[in-house]
Amino acid sequence: MFKPITWVKKDPEKNNVFWPSDELKKRAWVSDESIYAEATKDPVAFWTKLASEGINWFKKWDETYRWEPPYYKWFVNGKLNVSYNALDRHMKSWIRNKAAIIWEPEPPDEKERVLTYFDLYREVNKFANVLKGLGVKKGDRVGIYLPMIPEVQIAMLACARIGAIHNVVFSAFSGKSLQERMLDAEAKVLVTADGYYRRGKQINLKAEADRGVEGTPIQKVVVVKRTGMDVNMVEGRDQWWHELMKNAGNYCKPEVMESEDILFILYTSGTTGKPKGVEHHTGGYAVQAYWTTKWDFDLRDEDVFWCTADIGWITGHTYSCYGPLMCGVTMLEYESSPDYPQPDRWWSIIEKYGVTVFYTAPTAIRMFMQWGEEWPKKHNLNSLRILGTVGEPINEEAWLWYFYKIGGGRCPIIDTWWQTETGGTLINALPGIGPFIPTVAGRSFPGTLHDILDESGNPVPVGEGGYLVQKPPFAPGMLRDIWRNPERYKEYFSAYGEKFYYTSDGARRWDKLGDIRLTGRVDDVMKVAGHRLSTAELENAITSHEAVVECAVVASPHEIKGEVPIAFVTLKGGVEPSDELVKDLMKHVDATIGPTARPHRTIFTEELPKTRSGKIMRRILKSLVRDEPIGDTTTLMNPESVERLKKLVG
Ligand code: WTA
Repeated sequence: MFKPITWVKKDPEKNNVFWPSDELKKRAWVSDESIYAEATKDPVAFWTKLASEGINWFKKWDETYRWEPPYYKWFVNGKLNVSYNALDRHMKSWIRNKAAIIWEPEPPDEKERVLTYFDLYREVNKFANVLKGLGVKKGDRVGIYLPMIPEVQIAMLACARIGAIHNVVFSAFSGKSLQERMLDAEAKVLVTADGYYRRGKQINLKAEADRGVEGTPIQKVVVVKRTGMDVNMVEGRDQWWHELMKNAGNYCKPEVMESEDILFILYTSGTTGKPKGVEHHTGGYAVQAYWTTKWDFDLRDEDVFWCTADIGWITGHTYSCYGPLMCGVTMLEYESSPDYPQPDRWWSIIEKYGVTVFYTAPTAIRMFMQWGEEWPKKHNLNSLRILGTVGEPINEEAWLWYFYKIGGGRCPIIDTWWQTETGGTLINALPGIGPFIPTVAGRSFPGTLHDILDESGNPVPVGEGGYLVQKPPFAPGMLRDIWRNPERYKEYFSAYGEKFYYTSDGARRWDKLGDIRLTGRVDDVMKVAGHRLSTAELENAITSHEAVVECAVVASPHEIKGEVPIAFVTLKGGVEPSDELVKDLMKHVDATIGPTARPHRTIFTEELPKTRSGKIMRRILKSLVRDEPIGDTTTLMNPESVERLKKLVG
C-alpha cells in the first residue's frame, strides 16, 4: 500500500541541506516560494483570506485586525464555535464516518479504541450537556486533569461547545500544582480520571486530584473510569463520567462565540515562581491552528497524524486536538510510555496504524538514539512521509538520526519553533518549499514577521546572533492576555517597546532566505526533556522544605534531556547532608510540582555566591555547571565561595 517514495533531495552544493523532491512539490498544499512575499506585502489581507477559507463563521467579522498596544484583536465581531469547526462541519461530508481518533492504550493486550468523527461528535455533544447539567455556563472555567485518553479531547471540545474556558493541567503535575492553577483560574468543575497506566503500573490520579481540589471553588468533579482501580469518591461532589453520560442528551447547540472570547487558559512557566495563565482567544487561535496543521504537515485525507505531545502542553492542545480535528484528519493518540513493554513501542505503533506524519520532540529522539537503532529497525516505517520536531533546539546528530533511521532518508523534517504564548507554530520550513537544514528551523510562517535584534534593538546581519522578536501584525493565534495579570502580559512588549513581542529566545540569522536558527532561552526558563520549567518555581519548591534555608537552581546542558536543573542548596544549621535527605527533597519536589521537575543533581553548599546587596549570582553557578569561564567576581560579597563551589561541582 505504501510505496516508499523519496520526498526530499540533497542539495548538490551543500552537505546536509535538503530540498523537497518534485513529487513532494507537486503534491504539497504550498510549493510556491512566492507565498512568502505575497503574505509579507499585506499580512492582514493574507490572514483575511485564510480565515475565510479555513474556518466556518456564523457571522463574518467587521474588522480583521485592531492594534491598541500592547493589545491586538483579530476578526473583530466575527462569530464562530471551534467545536463546530472540529466536528459539526464534518457531519455534512464523508468525513463523518472517518476515524477521528485512534487510541492506543498502554497495556499491549488491551484493545485500541477508534472514534469516528460522528462518534466524537456524539460524545462531545453529550458531555457538553453533562457540563451544562452541572451548572457550567459560558465563561466559566473548567479544570481538566486527564491522561492521554480520548475523554480529554471530548472534555476540551465540550467546553469549547458551550463557551466554557478549559484549563488543562498536565497529569504528571502534582495535586499542589493543580490546586494552584484551579485557584488562580477559579474553576467551578474538574474533569479527571481514576488513574492511568505508566510503564505497566496503575497510577492513582484521583488521589492527586483530591489534593488539587482542596480549598478551591471547585464544586463538582467528574471522574473517568480508566483503570477501574479503587479510588475515593466524595459524595455530593464526585460523579462518574459514564453515569453522567448515560442520561445526557445527544445534541447540544454550539454557543455562538465572539472571535475574541477566551477559548482556553493554559498555565506556563515564566521567570517568577508563579505560573502564568496564557489566554488564547477563539477566532485567531482557530485560524492559526487550522492552517499551520494543514501546511506544516501537508495533511491529506489519507494521512494518519501522530503528535506525541501530552495534552497538558500547548503542543497537545493545538496538534493533538484542535488543529487535526478542524482539518478532519485521523489522529493517533497513545496513552503512555514510549518504552513499554519494550523500547520499540512507538515504532510498533507507527507500523500497526500506518502513521504517515509523525511529530515529536528532540529529547525523545535522543532517548531513542541511546536505546539503539535495532529498535526502529524491527519495524516497517515506510508509511512515514513527513517528520516534525518541537520544543527545544535539535542538535545535528539527532536530526540526522531521525532523518535516516526513522525517516529512511526520504521524509522532510519540519523543525517547528513556537511557544505556549504563540498558540501555533511560527518558524519552520514548509514541506513543499524547504530547505530542510539540521538545527535550522526555517522561515517565519507566511503572514508572520520576525526579526533578530542586538541589545540596542538593531537587527543583526546574516550569520550573527541576537534576540528573537515578533513584529506586528502579531500572529492571530498569539496570546491575548495573562489571566487576571495584565502586568505580566505587558512584559512581553516591554523589552524592545510595544512594537515587538519579545520571545526570550536567542536566535541566529542563517541565510538571506530568512532562515533562522534558534539557540535556546535567554531567561531563567529551562526546557527539560521538552518540558517548560522555571528555575524560580523550582527554587520555591525546594526552599519550602523544612531542612532548607536557601537554594539556587540553574540549568545545565544534558545529552538527552537538552537541559537539566542543578540545585545548589544551603541547609539549616544542624541539618547534615545525606542521601536520605536528597531522596526526601525529591519527594518534596514531586509533591510540589511533579516528578518532571526533579533536580538532576543536588549540591549542598554552606554558601552561595552573592552580591553585596545579597542577591544570588546565578550567572556564576551557571558558568560552573557548564564548565565555562567564571568571569568577573569582583562584585561578589564572598568571592572565595567560588573556589569552594568549583570543587563541589567537580
Ligand atoms: C523552545 C513549546 C528551538 C523555545 C511549543 C521556546 C524551541 C520554548 C523549538 C517554548 C524549536 C520550542 N527549536 N527551540 N523548534 N520549539 N522551542 O511554551 O525556547 O513549552 O521559547 O512551547 O521552547 O516552550 P513551550
